[in-house]
Amino acid sequence: MSNTNSSLLGWIDARFPLTKLWKEHLSEYYAPKNFNFWYFFGSLALLVLVNQIVTGIFLTMNYQPNASQAFASVEYIMRDVPWGNLIRYMHSTGASAFFIVIYLHMFRGLLYGSYKKPRELVWLFGMFIYVLLMAEAFMGYLLPWGQMSYWGAQVIISLFGAIPFGIGDALTTWIRGDFVVSGATLNRFFAFHVIAVPLILIGLVVAHIIALHEVGSNNPDGIEIKKNKDANGIPLDGIPFHPYYTVKDIVGVGVFLILFAIVVFYLPEFFGKFMEKDNFIPADALKTPQHIAPLWYFTPFYAILRAVPSKGLGVLSMGASIVMLFFLPWLDRCKVKSMRYRGFISRIALAIFVISLFVLGYIGMLPPTPSRTMVARVFAILYFAYFLLMPFYSKFDKIKPVPERVTFK
Ligand code: HEM
Repeated sequence: MSNTNSSLLGWIDARFPLTKLWKEHLSEYYAPKNFNFWYFFGSLALLVLVNQIVTGIFLTMNYQPNASQAFASVEYIMRDVPWGNLIRYMHSTGASAFFIVIYLHMFRGLLYGSYKKPRELVWLFGMFIYVLLMAEAFMGYLLPWGQMSYWGAQVIISLFGAIPFGIGDALTTWIRGDFVVSGATLNRFFAFHVIAVPLILIGLVVAHIIALHEVGSNNPDGIEIKKNKDANGIPLDGIPFHPYYTVKDIVGVGVFLILFAIVVFYLPEFFGKFMEKDNFIPADALKTPQHIAPLWYFTPFYAILRAVPSKGLGVLSMGASIVMLFFLPWLDRCKVKSMRYRGFISRIALAIFVISLFVLGYIGMLPPTPSRTMVARVFAILYFAYFLLMPFYSKFDKIKPVPERVTFK
């Protein structure tokens, strides 16, 4: 890229650090050369974020944030707005795709110890993104004003009522803006969903990437590539992000878009998992659905909530199950980052953690029965054990020697 003052770029560069930014974050950002498939999900998360924002803007053009018109306006988008059904399905499928991508992205962090020093802030920004994403999805789900929108919001907002000393009741009324979920709730959720939360999300994503580029990416070996540099100060195991990883990421984007299109065009409800049956019925404040469950990405935490007998402790446990993740960088005392060089106990612990998430996620979708509650209790304990015992097992687990330079498997 030429940088002479006579060119347009030179003119811009004298006034705005365009070439400098391009170099710092793309053409001279040296990423480890052993990235594997797990490293697709950061760029895919960016892609899905853009999809949600673009389709969201077009949905907003025809959606009515008004309790008497919201449901009908969504039906209008589906039936009468040109391409409206495609835009809506891209947005609703995008929401589930976002969580699939983010969960895989986070799992990569657990697998390779990416949250460990010096990437604690990368992880913390990521966790704030995750929590905001949950708020974004929760508030977005109220907008179509279907039965599940309404009663899901009713259940989740009422959880704040568990806070003692009268604070809980006052807080729930304050959040809803009414004594029940109503048009006032819909209006404020709309405001948060379309502008407040996305704005903060974008800011956090920028912070996430700036923090990552400050310390450099981790890799499947968990080796700091900055420790081995050539005479020019370039990491020996690094390659420029552009063009090498921009090209590699296009492959990930291609595969993702094929799968995404299959769901959008052929299975947008995804067997009631991406869109629930009850949400095709308009909200009715006088008729509670038989079974209220959140969408799949919340069900592990919902199962933990229901597994605890007291409402107060249930809410506390559900909160703790998410808060735990923030502390990972300090709970993990292992000397090596990547699972490749960790011992048997760490691997088993991670496997049990993932199995617990799946079991809890499954139970959270079903109506509770005494036996399901017992199973949920066992797996909730295992879920927490992963975090609470980590300072011990991660320290005493046998580790293998980490090579000096990155490897390819
Ligand atoms: C909108 C959501 C998010 C976006 C757009 C995003 C984007 C990215 C990108 C582009 C990268 C670099 C490429 C890669 O390593 O895959 C990255 C790395 C990373 N992200 Fe995220 N991220 C998001 C959410 C999260 C969340 C929720 C977490 C965890 C709580 C997280 C933790 C990390 C970590 C630890 C790394 C460094 C990984 C390594 O170097 O091994 N991110 N992110």
